[in-house]
Order: sequence, then C-alpha cells, then structure tokens
Amino acid sequence: MAKVIATINLKGGVGKTTITAAVAEFMGGLFGQRVLLIDLDSQINLTTMMIGEDLWVQLNNAGRTLADAFRDAVGGTAEFDIETAVQRGVSPVRQVSGVDLLPSSLDLIELQEEVAALHLRRGGGVGAMYILRDAIAPVLDCYDYVLIDCPPNVGPITRNGLAIADAYIMPTIPDVLSTYGIPQIQKMVAEFGATLGRRIVELGLVITKYKANSTVHRTIVRNLRRDPTIQNVLPTYLREANAISAAAEYRDYSTLRNRYGNQGQYEELESITRTILTEAESKL
Ligand SMILES: Nc1ncnc2c1ncn2[C@@H]1O[C@H](COP(=O)(O)OP(=O)(O)O)[C@@H](O)[C@H]1O
Ligand SMILES: [Mg+2]
Repeated sequence: MAKVIATINLKGGVGKTTITAAVAEFMGGLFGQRVLLIDLDSQINLTTMMIGEDLWVQLNNAGRTLADAFRDAVGGTAEFDIETAVQRGVSPVRQVSGVDLLPSSLDLIELQEEVAALHLRRGGGVGAMYILRDAIAPVLDCYDYVLIDCPPNVGPITRNGLAIADAYIMPTIPDVLSTYGIPQIQKMVAEFGATLGRRIVELGLVITKYKANSTVHRTIVRNLRRDPTIQNVLPTYLREANAISAAAEYRDYSTLRNRYGNQGQYEELESITRTILTEAESKL
C-alpha cells in the first residue's frame, strides 16, 4: 500500500511546493521509490515545476487535470480518466525516474466553491471529501509514496487531500508570522481525522528558508524544538539559497545536484528525504 503524505501550512510562500517537489525527486532519483505527486493547489506551481507550462496548457484544455475529477463529481459526469491524467516520469531531472504527477488547474479556484456547495447539498458528512480518493483509487497500488501539495487553506479541496493522507509534514520558515498558524493546522487536521474515524499522523515540521545568521531564526527553531505540542522538528533544515529558488524553473537538469545546488543544498534535501522515509516507515 502506498503511504500518503500531505504537505500543509496555512501560510503561502513557506516552501511547501519546493519541499514537496524536492522530496519526490529525491525519493525517486536517490531512494528508488515510486512516487505519485498530487498538486492540489490552484497556483499550479508544483505542476509547472514538473512538466512546464506548455504541457500543462495542453492537458488543461484536454480535461486531463485534477480539476476535471472535481468537475465530474459536482456535475455528475464521468469524463475524467485517471490513466490519461497521470503524467508518467515527469521530473525534468535526467537522474530521476519513478515520479508521476497528477496535475493541478487554475479552475480549482472556482470548483472549490462548487465542492463546498455539493457538501452542503448532501447535508454535510464526508462524501464530498472523498472525490480525490475515489479518483485515484485505480492507480494507488502502483506507488510506494503519494505526496500531496495542499493549498494554503482548509477548504474542501485541501480536505480531499487530507482524506487520503496517512500523515502530514508542515514546512515552515522559522519566523514569527510563519509559525503563528501551526497550532491551528494541528487542531484542524486532528479534528478532521476524528471526523474520518482515524488518525492523520504529524510527521514533523520541516524548517525552510533557514538563515543561520538570523537571531530570530535561531531562537524560534530552538523554541520549536522545546515545544511539547510539536511532535517532531526534522533535524536538517533547508537553508535559504539562490540555488533553491532557481530550482523552480522548468528546464533540463542532468542531476539532482544540478537542480537543487551543490553548496550544501543537495545534502540538506537528501537528509530531509531520508528522515521522512525513516519516519514514515516507522510510524505509518
Ligand atoms: N530554501 C529556499 N531558499 C530560497 N528560496 C526558496 C527556498 N524555498 C523556497 N524558496 C522560494 O520561495 C518561494 C516560495 O516557495 P514555495 O515552495 O512556492 O512556497 P509555498 O508552496 O509554501 O507557497 C518560491 O519562489 C521558491 O522558489
Ligand atoms: Mg505552493
């Protein structure tokens, strides 16, 4: 059975998409895992990092994105085909194989409202939260890991992601505003898990955009580590680096070092991925 891990934080710009993309590529390229990436964010950043904008436009026009799965569910049609929607071997890094992608769409913005309306029409319950689960069920067994990049909100699309998640990671910049919402996320996920009748495991905080020379960053990381309400702060931090922001560009890369940077970034991401794999193996 695939282990499903959601990446979530209610704040934008904290490195959710970057971590999700990198962890998937390291899982596939370095650790031999078969990975399905699910891009649930209507900003489509993960999608364009993996397949570029041109292919995304084609897929979007052809009804081959996740938006079409949700559109079927709210409209009562059955046009979405998971086999043609899943993009195989997507990473633009030559060293990487085994990473597939279920692309996102800008249309998810308006569909979010429609899924919320469907939920109400059905008198609440969890039915409208299982649209994604039902859509991907036929391919789930093909993977070791499914990584879901969630949008920065707790709407019905995010909940569809959590409804298939065994666990979640929370990327966060160690500054005042970015860490502010952590208790809300924990509470929301715990309550939603209870509604589903199971636990969604908190795998840990991933410290991103870390600045070792910042007193604020050092202090906040220290406090997070001592905080008894936080299950786990991953021991390796992803430091702020130009190479990491440049990695968002869709172009040919020969290796993971080539995409993510050779001044410690590769080692940081390797270690973060290794820890996530170890934690997932022991806790899920
Ligand atoms: N460690 C890092 N160093 C430098 N830039 C980063 C780092 N992590 C992410 N970024 C950049 O910060 C921006 C926001 O990151 P992103 O992963 O898109 O965040 P989110 O998905 O949480 O909105 C992007 O431009 C990304 O390239
Ligand atoms: Mg993002």
